[in-house]
Amino acid sequence: MPSVHVVGSLNADQLLEVPAFPGPGETVLGSGMRITAGGKGGNQAVAAARGGARTTMVGAVGDDAHGRLVREALAGAGVCTASVRTDPGAHTGLAVVMLEPRGDNRIVVTPGANARLTEADVEAGLAAVEPGDVVLLQLEVPPVVVAHAARLAGARGATVVLNAAPAPSDAHCLDPDDLDVLVVNDPEAQAVARLFGIDEPAAPDRVLALARALDVLAVCTMGAQGAYAAPAGGRQPALYVPAVPAVPVDTTAAGDTFTGYLAAALAGGADDLPTALDRAAAAAALAVTRRGAMASIPELGEVLRTRHPSHLTTKE
Ligand code: RIB
Repeated sequence: MPSVHVVGSLNADQLLEVPAFPGPGETVLGSGMRITAGGKGGNQAVAAARGGARTTMVGAVGDDAHGRLVREALAGAGVCTASVRTDPGAHTGLAVVMLEPRGDNRIVVTPGANARLTEADVEAGLAAVEPGDVVLLQLEVPPVVVAHAARLAGARGATVVLNAAPAPSDAHCLDPDDLDVLVVNDPEAQAVARLFGIDEPAAPDRVLALARALDVLAVCTMGAQGAYAAPAGGRQPALYVPAVPAVPVDTTAAGDTFTGYLAAALAGGADDLPTALDRAAAAAALAVTRRGAMASIPELGEVLRTRHPSHLTTKE
């Protein structure tokens, strides 16, 4: 079965539970400080592995306790860490995650070693990519490295998936010709649409417009409102994937869980796109009911027991 190769960020997440997010100039007293493994790249790698794909991670950590924590969490989930470089010149990426009682979060990331991931790291890490593999990218490592990885992966016949998170503010890393699949949440979809001069106010139309303008399979996740997916070219109606009802305690890594599970399904774990989307949505719904990033990502067995693909509908 094809593999998933993730190129992206690895962070230690410092989780602070707060009664409400502080406003400008305000101090709030939080509780429950924990440090767990995260980072969009690492979370997506764990999700792909738990989703059933053979998964490798290309990234960088510092020579410190946080780096060891992240490595152990990846390895524990079955992710190959041979292409995770330890950089003695930087600390492991650190994310401060503030979590409100209803599960909403605010995240600040200081990238550390993630900012020192190089094109050479990517060339070495993607050397084993074969046609049919999936290469999964996000935007928490240098854009030039993301762009290089996309080009390299495409040249090797891989399916290139970009999760455009955090929302991009310029288009220099986004050559649509190098992408096959774009996964975004609603604010990220708006950011990408702005960058490419696409003017569509509403979600289903916007996802179709992205699929048409960029010629990619465009997927937009909308939290409790479900998700939309428009096949490349944007000529067919968008698929609508209803969300699985869930009571959220922590939404951190919900999008990562969706994206990693989708990548695993595209690598051969699911028979068709509707099944792949439905599985990704079910996995994300389970993730929000648990605290933490990597720690919240469910195993495939639980996901398969959660929902059946017949729940999918289409929207004109
Ligand atoms: O998407 C969630 C992730 O964003 C967190 O794990 C944090 O590390 C940041 O990268």
